[in-house]
Amino acid sequence: MTSAAAEPPGAEKRPVVLLPFASEPASRRDVEDVRSAVEFARGILEKGGFSPLPFPLSPEGLSRPASLAGEILDKNPLCVFNLFEGFSLDSGAEHRFRKLLEDLDLPCTGNPASVLRICLSKEECASLLKAKGIPVPPGVALLPGDGPEQAASLPFPIFLKPLHEDGSVGVDAHSLVQDELSLKESLARKLSSFPSGIYAEVFLPGREYSVACLGRSPCSVAGVSVIDYEGEGEILPFLDYGSKWEEDSPGYSLSPKKASGPAAARAEELARAAGSALGCRGGFRVDLREKEGELYVLDVNPNPDMTPEGGFLRQCRESGLGGEEVILLLLRQALEDHKERDER
Ligand SMILES: Nc1ncnc2c1ncn2[C@@H]1O[C@H](COP(=O)(O)OP(=O)(O)O)[C@@H](O)[C@H]1O
Ligand SMILES: [Mg+2]
Repeated sequence: MTSAAAEPPGAEKRPVVLLPFASEPASRRDVEDVRSAVEFARGILEKGGFSPLPFPLSPEGLSRPASLAGEILDKNPLCVFNLFEGFSLDSGAEHRFRKLLEDLDLPCTGNPASVLRICLSKEECASLLKAKGIPVPPGVALLPGDGPEQAASLPFPIFLKPLHEDGSVGVDAHSLVQDELSLKESLARKLSSFPSGIYAEVFLPGREYSVACLGRSPCSVAGVSVIDYEGEGEILPFLDYGSKWEEDSPGYSLSPKKASGPAAARAEELARAAGSALGCRGGFRVDLREKEGELYVLDVNPNPDMTPEGGFLRQCRESGLGGEEVILLLLRQALEDHKERDER
């Protein structure tokens, strides 16, 4: 038992901020990474006068929502600082956990369950953006049993990615297919690894932009970065899993540059439009690529990596916003949003 004398004076009055993270026997690199982000936020919240409480969340725990809800409420949190991105074998846990927090009416940082859910489906996200007049590459969702003929409307080269993942999970050298035979082989292989589906999209060969956004419509843009694969020698012309998470992968050395000029302004305009169309808030990142001088939105990441080394906080720093400011800003926004909802 901890003695009261060991606590800093007034510590018992500090409001609790819960920091959920995936607790599972063996995590994939990208899921494990959330622990570093939680540690980073914990340090800042501690200094900011809060009582941050890392909260391990297991697949079994989430499968018993009533007792999980009880455990959460027992901690009497002022806010949940939600960096939880799901489990290694269950990405959908991300939005289901968030929904549970919403049902408990707790203030919570980041995007609502509805946004987390839609952004986890490449097809739903693209069709919603398209319906709002935001350019996206043509794409088709493919399910087990489907063959290359279901993607016949798409011209080669085609890009294959899991329908319901993020963080470049399932994106590898076999994602880019140039002809019907490689489409057939790669699709069969990917569907057996990702039975919930594969999204086939027209491959966009040009520069890749990423726009870091904060807040809700109109969000503020913290930075636009660009990767020009043309100048990058012997690496894949896209961000595969290794380039994001594996230090020994050739693409890991890729360092996006701060973008400026008309293309960066257009990327920023499209990212804001995508954020408004989806109802994003908190921190989010929008990925875009170019084809024949036009930009298209590829992906909206509503729960970006918040480690200090990650792209999101790097972009914030480049525009003069330190990690500490961002973490405290996200917390403040969550409390304000909750108060506004209560008043309505
Ligand atoms: N249609 C496409 N054309 C070219 N590159 C793509 C396309 N779709 C995805 N990519 C590449 O794959 C990466 C991961 O895909 P993305 O759609 O951003 O999914 P994730 O949610 O896994 O980040 C992108 O950063 C980009 O490099
Ligand atoms: Mg992406």
